[in-house]
Amino acid sequence: MQQTIATALETQFEKDVYQGLTEYPKYLSSQYFYDAKGDKLFQDIMNMPEYYLTDREFEILSDNTAEIAKLFARGNASFKLLELGAGDGKKTKILLNYLSKNNFKFKYHPIDISQNALDGLEASLLKELPEVLVETRQGTYFETLEEINAENGTHKIILFLGSNIGNLLHSQAIAFLKSVQELMQEDDLLFVGFDMKKNPEIILDAYNDASGITAAFNKNILARINTELDANFDLDKFRHWEVYDPETGTAKSFLVSKENQTVTLQKLDLQVHFTAWETIHTEISQKYDDRTIAWLADKSGLDIVTEFSDANAHYKNYVFRTK
Ligand code: AVJ
Repeated sequence: MQQTIATALETQFEKDVYQGLTEYPKYLSSQYFYDAKGDKLFQDIMNMPEYYLTDREFEILSDNTAEIAKLFARGNASFKLLELGAGDGKKTKILLNYLSKNNFKFKYHPIDISQNALDGLEASLLKELPEVLVETRQGTYFETLEEINAENGTHKIILFLGSNIGNLLHSQAIAFLKSVQELMQEDDLLFVGFDMKKNPEIILDAYNDASGITAAFNKNILARINTELDANFDLDKFRHWEVYDPETGTAKSFLVSKENQTVTLQKLDLQVHFTAWETIHTEISQKYDDRTIAWLADKSGLDIVTEFSDANAHYKNYVFRTK
């Protein structure tokens, strides 16, 4: 049984944690992985051999840089390059480097949920590519839509890399793509990274690495709740569990309680009881096929301009314009 005392919930984080841990089955949103420790753990994930997504997208961007730059600049017009969920910008820097070395006229607008990630990105760009004009903005994907909407004479390119779209259920992805599409003018492009369906073992290994980095990343949401909401989750009493359904293409992450236990979240005046092997669902990482991407685009009012693939079609970048 849950014992709750009514309390004034202030931040969205507090509201979402309260909501997710008092539901059955329990859940927490993967957007809350990314505090300073989570950012670092995600960088470690991107450097793991099992996490092929980053390397494959890096390969696509490296092999097609000139073509992509031409597509973005529509000849040599100046443009605004918006990036949703920019993170450390490792892959985007390939493009930024090429664009600036070849005198394309553009301004880069990285947007991310983590101010910490944005600060790191801005500092590294200042050092590595000081000539690139940068304007950062902290916010969720939906908040970033305002940024996309800001009136400006130049056309916009919207980057949504890393298969970040995979954190959204199809219904949420359509809602999101639709809201982006509504803000797109004729000349604007949307450039999206999709992790493709493949041998299920490769996918499972990427989210269930032997070194336990993904487990630490998943559990970091509990560590963050401990710190920010005065809670006493014992991270050792939960285990990371990953499943992948090759039919739907959905990878799901869970934290599973190893025993009967009660956790106190002081800041929320909340006690949460877990029965042995009860779950907290924390993340989906959706995998796609061409047919599903065409369906998502159609539902969102988007046309496919072109696509780029790695050699094994493990990962693709699609380019969309408004219908
Ligand atoms: C940043 C959402 C693309 O789902 O693959 C990596 C996050 N989670 N390992 C993904 C993640 C576990 C990642 N995205």
